[in-house]
Amino acid sequence: MLRKIAITAASVLALSGAALAAGGGEQHIEDVAFSFEGPFGKYDEHQLQRGLQVYTEVCAGCHGMKLVPIRSLSDEGGPHLPEDQVRAYATQFTAIDKDTGEEREATPNDFFPKSALENAPDLSLMAKARAGFHGPYGTGINQFLRGIGGPEYIVSILTGYTGHEVEQAGTTFYENSAFPGGLIAMSPPLADGQVEYADGHDNSAHHMAEDVAAFLMWAAEPKMMARKQAGFVAVLFIGLLTVLLYLTNKRLWAPHKGKKKVQA
Ligand code: HEC
Repeated sequence: MLRKIAITAASVLALSGAALAAGGGEQHIEDVAFSFEGPFGKYDEHQLQRGLQVYTEVCAGCHGMKLVPIRSLSDEGGPHLPEDQVRAYATQFTAIDKDTGEEREATPNDFFPKSALENAPDLSLMAKARAGFHGPYGTGINQFLRGIGGPEYIVSILTGYTGHEVEQAGTTFYENSAFPGGLIAMSPPLADGQVEYADGHDNSAHHMAEDVAAFLMWAAEPKMMARKQAGFVAVLFIGLLTVLLYLTNKRLWAPHKGKKKVQA
């Protein structure tokens, strides 16, 4: 019996070792304590607003977010911007009018534009697409308590540049300790102090990376808070139901159990 357990444990270890080796080996993902982690976690409205600013001023030059409706910027639980600000924000983008087929100023009812640079991936779902196996927490109960790891991956990519560049087939690649394979085609997008925050918040490259990662998590999962709340209510309800069923069960069977005792 003990031998069996030992063999199983050894093979599990060997297998997970192989899985790690296949996952790029040296990939380094930093752990970040985001406000929205854990069963009661919440997005920080101000952080999402700062992240939106970083996205708009820096990332949007190359990356799009074509699955995110601009109007959701005013959602409660999200960046929660006043509606007139969202209307003003939308006007910096253009959209193709469905009726006329012509380009016009975007309105809150349009979506964010698609990527401006062809090889820059769309960021709408990036925080979820890179979750789990790329993040620091793996899968399962760990993710339940500490988040899914996607935003940590984004922070690590943005701050993981080593400063080395490699020229390959006419393209420049930048060495990055978080990117699988170690060489990324994105030049380092963030430098300390690059974005001026209205709230005077620390604008080191690392803080801006955290803010934009939080914003991208919200973009990928805008209803996270509602989902967590619904989950909590469901657990409460099931708990209550369990107690009620237990009491009902006892009461229903009480006469029969009692008889047995008398006979014995
Ligand atoms: C100058 C253009 C440019 C800017 C600005 C830029 N990116 Fe990128 N980004 C790219 C390109 C190109 C890639 C594809 C890299 C590759 O696959 O090697 C990329 C890839 C990514 C990836 C995907 C990595 C993966 O796992 O595939 C993430 C996440 C990302 N960028 C986030 C950001 C964020 C956040 C910002 C703003 C702070 C930003 N980028 C700014 C060009 C840019």
